[in-house]
Amino acid sequence: MLAYLNTLASKDAELLAWQFLLAARNLSKVLHPNGCYLSLDEQRTPVVLQHADDSSACLWLGNDGVWCRSSQIPAVVAAMFDLYLPLLTRTNASYYVVAHLGQSIDSKIATTSGDGYYVTGEENRRHLHCLRALSDAVIVGAATVIADNPQLTTRAVAGEHAVRVVLDPRAELDTSFGVFNDAQARTVLLHQSSAKLDARSMTSGPVLSSGEQQVERWIVPDSDASMNPEQVVSLLARRGLNRLFVEGGGVTVSRFFEAAVLDRLHVAVAPLLVGEGTSALQLGGVEKMINARRPAHALYGMGDDVLWDFDVSGCSDATVSNSAVQDSVSAALEPTVRIK
Ligand SMILES: NC(=O)c1ccc[n+]([C@@H]2O[C@H](COP(=O)([O-])OP(=O)(O)OC[C@H]3O[C@@H](n4cnc5c(N)ncnc54)[C@H](OP(=O)(O)O)[C@@H]3O)[C@@H](O)[C@H]2O)c1
Repeated sequence: MLAYLNTLASKDAELLAWQFLLAARNLSKVLHPNGCYLSLDEQRTPVVLQHADDSSACLWLGNDGVWCRSSQIPAVVAAMFDLYLPLLTRTNASYYVVAHLGQSIDSKIATTSGDGYYVTGEENRRHLHCLRALSDAVIVGAATVIADNPQLTTRAVAGEHAVRVVLDPRAELDTSFGVFNDAQARTVLLHQSSAKLDARSMTSGPVLSSGEQQVERWIVPDSDASMNPEQVVSLLARRGLNRLFVEGGGVTVSRFFEAAVLDRLHVAVAPLLVGEGTSALQLGGVEKMINARRPAHALYGMGDDVLWDFDVSGCSDATVSNSAVQDSVSAALEPTVRIK
């Protein structure tokens, strides 16, 4: 059956690879890690096998919760598995968090007027939709909703919509935005407990209605100044949202990175010079270059853009991540997906 994959044109192989990934996503949520193999049946559809020999399985879930792939598959399929399977790892941690930013080569995600459209190209847009489809929730900051009025749904690929989570610490957003009205997917607003809820135009209470759509409002315990990313992901995980995708903007992704709650950071770099504008990552500096963070990474081409896939688990502290550099100057990402 694996031989069949190698007869397909690139586009068809990618579509089938995506079906495998959706099947793996569903299995990751329900099955015990042992004895879970995915292969193709006679109808060329991914099926679960309880017993498989090495030559028939395309993907399998190891006892350690890590998905593995066959080496007998086309390169385009292998690249998709390598990029997305780490997001489906089953760990003892209650959450797995990936963040993405699409930036110009001068590290901007929007112009000074807040225009953030068409930074990266179509292939990277499809990648965003893949990340949404593999996640339980897609998280954005209030400033992104104000600037972009985004839909945050899965449209460019097959798959379910993630729950849309909007960080609105002081409860300042009104209900005119699409995520509160389009009834396309569930939306959750997160506020700090100090937010002055009754000063807003929306009805106060645990659930608010905006037109046809019910929008839930959850309260994150207050921290010092702004919403604490650790409290955010813990709250979401307690409520069953364990695979999280932070889609922007720069302030939100930076705060999640600095709080060390990210497992993976995807930075798509477009061949574009913006000049003044909204910054992508905004991190505290280091005095010596040797102390700069150098997380393990892999590169993927997406049309004219280049996606950097960083493994940033445990990488908020520069001195920790930098020890890897001293061991290996190239700092290439050890494939999380082991190859037969
Ligand atoms: N290219 C990409 O990958 C990408 C992705 C998403 C968005 N974008 C662009 O990024 C820009 C927004 O990013 P960003 O870094 O500025 O912010 P952001 O991360 O979207 O939003 C984060 C924070 O915005 C603050 N905020 C600012 N104005 C607010 C308001 N009126 N009401 C409530 N909160 C407000 C809050 O911070 P406090 O905690 O400080 O109160 C909030 O938590 C937009 O122009 C968007 O187009 C680009």
